[in-house]
Amino acid sequence: MKISFSPVALPKAGAVAVTVLADRTLGAFGRQLDERTGGLLTRAMEAGRFTGKADETLTLLAPAGLDTPRLLLVGLGEAAKATALTFQSAGGAAYVALAKSGETELSIAVEAHEGVALGGAEAAAELASGVLLRSYRFDKYRTKEPKDQKPTLKKVAVLTDEQAGAKKAFGRLEKVVDGVFLTRDVVSEPGNVIYPESLAERCQMLAELGVVVEVLDEKKMKKLGMGALLGVGQGSARPPRLVVMRWNGAPESKEGPLAFVGKGVTFDSGGISLKPGPGMEEMKWDMAGAGAVIGLMAALAGRKAKANVIGVVGLVENMPDGNAQRPGDIVTSMSGQTIEILNTDAEGRLVLADALWYTQETFKPRFMVNLATLTGAIIVSLGHEHAGLFSNNDELADRLLQAGKSTGEALWRMPLSPAYDKDIDCDAADMRNIGTAGKAGSITAAQFLQRFVNDLPWAHLDIAGTAWSKKDTGTVPKGATGFGVRLLDRLVADFYE
Ligand code: BES
Ligand code: MN
Ligand code: ZN
Repeated sequence: MKISFSPVALPKAGAVAVTVLADRTLGAFGRQLDERTGGLLTRAMEAGRFTGKADETLTLLAPAGLDTPRLLLVGLGEAAKATALTFQSAGGAAYVALAKSGETELSIAVEAHEGVALGGAEAAAELASGVLLRSYRFDKYRTKEPKDQKPTLKKVAVLTDEQAGAKKAFGRLEKVVDGVFLTRDVVSEPGNVIYPESLAERCQMLAELGVVVEVLDEKKMKKLGMGALLGVGQGSARPPRLVVMRWNGAPESKEGPLAFVGKGVTFDSGGISLKPGPGMEEMKWDMAGAGAVIGLMAALAGRKAKANVIGVVGLVENMPDGNAQRPGDIVTSMSGQTIEILNTDAEGRLVLADALWYTQETFKPRFMVNLATLTGAIIVSLGHEHAGLFSNNDELADRLLQAGKSTGEALWRMPLSPAYDKDIDCDAADMRNIGTAGKAGSITAAQFLQRFVNDLPWAHLDIAGTAWSKKDTGTVPKGATGFGVRLLDRLVADFYE
């Protein structure tokens, strides 16, 4: 998709779109077009029951009085409620309305509307980023898709009176979208293509953006004593990797870096505690936490964020095998704490135990935020609308919640307490990898992680319900969502730059 910004005027070719506020309120350009067409827009809105609600669209074909083959109306809803997210999802809606129409070019006017708090330049840039985000498609393995089912829309020009400002704002947003797309790409790939070594190679490509990348192999991890992570990978023919990515955007700063840690189980069969067959293919995206960290690092480096940030991803494949870890096995983590494995399918926490400990000890970060498709139980609690947030620090938790509200990547805080922690106490070792009660599974998983975090501010995001979507929404086509990239980019931008 090619995005550009131009002054507000009728284009020479392609479709034309205008934004409309609630109660069929047109902006100046919309009113101009309405006049030129003898009131076509007004009549069409009434005839089509279009009122200008957010994301509502109406296409008018071959409008008399205009050269354009298509005139598109895109609703923004009430002016007072319009935020950056409104413009993003309006961009997404405009894209969907014309994506497969046969049209290749669209010019969409984002005029200054009365009562909208967001500046014109920002509104134009946000709308453009929404077009981009919604235009994502993972179709590299479709060799026989009929031509008439493929998207035709290739160029979108956003018409604005504040071209320079819009371009500048978009330059930044575009880098974040690049990060989101990288995440969606690696999360969409199947397990035979993305496995620990190949995902580590993708991480190494971030060097082009100025990210310093270090890959730890099995030998190195053995030496460090990462028995928890290594136990998970030991049944797989694909050796594990731990990747450290560093972005030093604030070289003068004396504070510790910000650290993001991701679960990267490139395929989770469950191991010897094998998962049931139906749906097992979904576990190719059990590396979405790592995927988000990788995309986040790309976004931060791409937009040259003024912060020092570490991204760490633990990459393993969880497979059943003669050499695989057994239920009842006891492993020693890098922290020295021992773990009895009662279920080899509770593997994400084992990977994170060593990745978190390593990150904390090596980098003494200001905070650690980890992301993981950790538990099916979080989907029972929150469905697909919020990711679970667990934290030992109210300030960090509140900042994350705020970043979630501003980006639409919503979080809901869940509890941690000694009463839950008790549930993973164990007779045979320091702890067990699943709770005894078989209840509050997301919380006991979080308690397990917390045992590998000392006094620093830490938050765990359980993204099992939000990393993949079975339906299209505003700026997210179905499939890998890229959840976490926009959220954490915003956390860094709003509170740590
Ligand atoms: N990767 C899964 C969690 C998951 C489930 C992610 C569904 C996305 C969608 C995780 O490794 C797992 O298997 N968790 C178990 C834990 C149980 C054995 C205590 C679960 O949730 O069933
Ligand atoms: Mn599992
Ligand atoms: Zn898993």
